[in-house]
Amino acid sequence: MKYSLAIFSSQITVLSAFVATSTFKRTQFGLNAVSRKDTYDVTLLPGDGIGPEITEATKEVLSALCKRCNFKIDLKSALIGGSAIDEANDPFPDESLQQCLKSDSVLLACIGGYKWDKNPRELRPETGLLKMRKEMGLFANLRPAKVLPQLLDASTLKKEVVEGVDVMVVRELTGDVYFGTPKGIDIVDGERVGYNNMIYSEGEIDRIARVAGDVASKRSGKLCSVDKANVLDVSQLWREVVTDVISKDFSDVELSHMYVDNAAMQLIRWPKQFDTIVCGNIFGDILSDEASMLVGSLGMLPSASIGESGPGVFEPCHGSAPDIAGENKANPLAMILSAAMMLKYDLERPDEAQLLEDAVEAVLDQGLRTADIKQDGDNCELVGCVEMGKAVAELVTTLELKVPITV
Ligand code: IPM
Ligand code: MG
Repeated sequence: MKYSLAIFSSQITVLSAFVATSTFKRTQFGLNAVSRKDTYDVTLLPGDGIGPEITEATKEVLSALCKRCNFKIDLKSALIGGSAIDEANDPFPDESLQQCLKSDSVLLACIGGYKWDKNPRELRPETGLLKMRKEMGLFANLRPAKVLPQLLDASTLKKEVVEGVDVMVVRELTGDVYFGTPKGIDIVDGERVGYNNMIYSEGEIDRIARVAGDVASKRSGKLCSVDKANVLDVSQLWREVVTDVISKDFSDVELSHMYVDNAAMQLIRWPKQFDTIVCGNIFGDILSDEASMLVGSLGMLPSASIGESGPGVFEPCHGSAPDIAGENKANPLAMILSAAMMLKYDLERPDEAQLLEDAVEAVLDQGLRTADIKQDGDNCELVGCVEMGKAVAELVTTLELKVPITV
C-alpha cells in the first residue's frame, strides 16, 4: 500500500498487521442497524436556531427521494436543546429519548443559542446532546471532510493543499474527559479548583478501534490513531489497545500513530496524508472542527453517531447559527448530506444515499450557493435555505441515475 507521509519517526509507528475479521456487529461498513424495508420510522429533532429551517429543506428533499425511489419515511418530530428547555424544562426529555429509541433512525438539525448560554449546566442545550449520546449508546462518531471540486475556493488554505482531501474522523463519543468522574469545582485551600477526569477503559477503546478498523478497511486502508501518549497514561493505554485490535483483527489496515499536537499541525500542513483518523472524544471534537475548515464551510459537513445496535443519530457538524436564524440564509446541505449518511449507515439504502450526494454536487454545479459558501466574484447565484432545498429536491427527482435504483 502506498503511504506518502512526512514522517516524524519518533511520532509515527507504521505497523504491519496480520490475522482477519472484525467482531464489530453492524454489517455494511460494519455499521447498518436496520435491514432494508419499505417504510421507516425516523425521528426528526429540529432543535434550535437555523435547525427548523434546514429541517424543512431536508424534509422536502427526503419526500422527493421517497417518491422517486418508491419507499416511505414516516417522520415524527421530538424536542431537544433550547426548544426542549423552553417547552419541557429539560434539554432532552425522556419522551424524546423513548421516541428516538423506538425509531429506525434519528435525524438531528442543531441545538443551542445565546438565550440559554447562561443557564446552569443541567439546563443547557449541550447537556441534552450529551445525554442523548450517552443514553442511546452512540459511542462512534463519523465525521467525513471531503473537499468538493466545486468549493475549492471556499477554503482559506491554498488550492493545492486542499484539492482532493478526503478525510474521515472517527471520534469516540461517550467517554473521555466529557463523561469521566470525578469532576466538579471545589474549594481547596481557600480557592476554587476545577477538575475533570480523562478516562478510558480497555473495552471502550477496543470497540471504537473496531469501528475505525472497519471504516478504514472500506476506504483506503490507512488509519491514523491520534493520542498524547508521550504525556498521558490514558493515551498510552489507548495506543496499546488500538495497536492490538488493528494488528490482530484488521490485516488489511495500515495503522500509524500521531500525537494530537502534531496531528493538528499536519492537518493544515498536508491534509492529504490522512485518510481515516481515530481519536478520543475531546481530541476528536477539536480535530473534526479543524478538518471541517479544509472544506471551507461547516455548512457542508454531515456526521453519523452510532452504537453497537439500535438507531443512529445523523446531524450536521455545524451549530445552530442563532445570528442568522429565521432569515432564510442557512445552508441546508450538511443536513441533507446527514440524511444521506442515515440512508447509507442505518437504513440500508446506499443507492438512495448516493442519489442525495449526487444531487448536492449537481446543485453546486448549477452554481447555486448559500452565503457561507459564496465567494466574492465567483459568478454563482446567491440563494436562501428554502431555494437551496427546493433545488436539491428538484434534482433528486430529475437527475440521471449513475446506478439504477431498485424500486
Ligand atoms: C460537537 C459539539 C458538541 C461536543 C457540543 C455542542 C457539546 O461541539 O458535536 O462537536 O463538544 O461534542
Ligand atoms: Mg465540536
